Amino acid sequence: MFDFTPNPDQPKSELYEDILSAARALTEGEPDKIANMANIAALLYQLMPDLNWAGFYRMVKDELVLGPFCGKPACIRIPVGRGVCGAAAETGESQLVPDVHAFPGHIACDAQSRSELVVPVIEKDRVVAVIDLDSPSPGRFDAEDKNGIEALASMLIGRI
Ligand code: SME
Repeated sequence: MFDFTPNPDQPKSELYEDILSAARALTEGEPDKIANMANIAALLYQLMPDLNWAGFYRMVKDELVLGPFCGKPACIRIPVGRGVCGAAAETGESQLVPDVHAFPGHIACDAQSRSELVVPVIEKDRVVAVIDLDSPSPGRFDAEDKNGIEALASMLIGRI
């Protein structure tokens, strides 16, 4: 069994090293993509401080569909180009949003969310999923979070 104990004082660089190695170990050799996404969502939700939602949207027939997550029930389908997740899927670029109320078209699944980070998972030039993280604190995510989750997204290619 894995035992992951969150440490709020841990520097982010170390946190992302831990997340990456735990995520690699959890998904190593496991072909079931849903199981892998479920464990990664749980890992992120448990280890990253100050989140109210962590999970996946998958690209299914050119639209984002809710995948495994931790947090409140969320909207199920998001068209490419809509909201923060749709912007990440459309552009293939991570979206770091310090204030969701200032993001045109932001989709409020949980009224508590104030900032958001969405990172695409790109396989063979195609966005196959996005990792979505929400926080109740404005400006919760910075460039280090973006880089850390992008490294995770790269590691997950072929595993989710
Ligand atoms: N806020 C997202 C929608 C998904 S929820 O945050 C879980 C968006 O604008 O795409």
